[in-house]
Amino acid sequence: MAGIYIHIPFCRKICSYCDFYKVISKENNSAFIDALLKEAEIRNNYLAEEAVSTIYFGGGTPTVLSPEEIKKILDGLFLLFTIDRNCEITIELNPDDIDIHYLKGLKDLGVNRISLGVQSWRDEDLKLLNRRHSSAQAEKALNFSFDAGFENVTIDLIYGIPGMSSSGWMANLDKTFSFNIKHLSAYHLTIEPGTTFGKMKEKGLLTEIDEEESASQFNILIEKSEKAGFIHYEISNFGKEGYFSRHNTNYWRQINYLGLGPSAHSFNNYSRQWNLKNVNSYINSVKNNKPFYESEELSVKTRFNEYIMTSLRTMWGIDLDFVETAFEKEGYDYIVNMAGKFKNYGLMKQENKNLVLTNQGKMISDNIISEFMMPEKE
Ligand SMILES: C[S@@+](CC[C@H](N)C(=O)[O-])C[C@H]1O[C@@H](n2cnc3c(N)ncnc32)[C@H](O)[C@@H]1O
Ligand code: SF4
Repeated sequence: MAGIYIHIPFCRKICSYCDFYKVISKENNSAFIDALLKEAEIRNNYLAEEAVSTIYFGGGTPTVLSPEEIKKILDGLFLLFTIDRNCEITIELNPDDIDIHYLKGLKDLGVNRISLGVQSWRDEDLKLLNRRHSSAQAEKALNFSFDAGFENVTIDLIYGIPGMSSSGWMANLDKTFSFNIKHLSAYHLTIEPGTTFGKMKEKGLLTEIDEEESASQFNILIEKSEKAGFIHYEISNFGKEGYFSRHNTNYWRQINYLGLGPSAHSFNNYSRQWNLKNVNSYINSVKNNKPFYESEELSVKTRFNEYIMTSLRTMWGIDLDFVETAFEKEGYDYIVNMAGKFKNYGLMKQENKNLVLTNQGKMISDNIISEFMMPEKE
């Protein structure tokens, strides 16, 4: 079964670290929604009539849309695609400007998973990150979500924030696990060129935390989440049994997905496509039947590298049976040979027919993954 991602590229304020495609929101969303629905109509063959088991509204800030506007999008998708009756429907929520009526409105539409962007429970971090909300507002939004009847609630946190020590991070996690959430996504801060943080770093106004501190915060995350009953199923994702993100897990398992909206990516195992990264050009191109995406046919090596990149980040790791079928003896021998070295260093282990990273390996997952990459051109 396939997935649909919808990118809502509007934000009310731009956070210092964020490199996702977004623009400051304008209040008239109707031209954008019309374009989204027209795109869905144009591309409804991309998933080859596969049933859709996950829908994910991400951003940007999907909650700049009213429940009526979200309903219009969902109604369009239900008309155009075969949607599974147990479809996971997630929406990313920013804690500002949310009230119980809004959340009840979402619940009535069939949204069944809330992803709340808390980032930190410490106001000094939120200020540095240029977030629009305080810690108290995030707590209110979280409680409104429970009160509105959502039980599948996940929150996003960022660690490795300059000025946040290991003890600050511990306190953040303790507060997080004091709520009845079912899932946590915790990302190490990355400082991307072009963002406010990127510019501050260039001018020497922001210093990244050192590697030792990063490792310590990652270890704290692993220990505390395990103690709280969460399963570390992907480098940055932790879920209670039965509450892993089905949408993201499908990405990591090479399941087909269609991405709608500016900058959204799509994948169907044969090709990868990516939409224009400009909301006005996107709307005009879709409206006037002009090309609005680029695409790439996937070579065997690209598929191999993508498989390694995604699978090694998960608790299921590289499935050697799958590798033998999909990438034949050459791919299989290459992996087994490469894995030998990492196993000797205690960075990888084999569980039945799966190769997974040890906790020590997870600390340097990016380096291990890049060593596994097959060069595209010999
Ligand atoms: C694209 S954001 C959208 C979520 C929503 N707009 C919000 O701000 O809460 C998805 C998540 O990615 C994470 N993220 C984005 N940029 C990041 C960065 N540079 N470093 C670490 N985490 C980042 C944040 O935790 C954020 O909640
Ligand atoms: S983190 Fe979220 S709210 Fe902040 S700029 Fe990025 S998408 Fe917008």
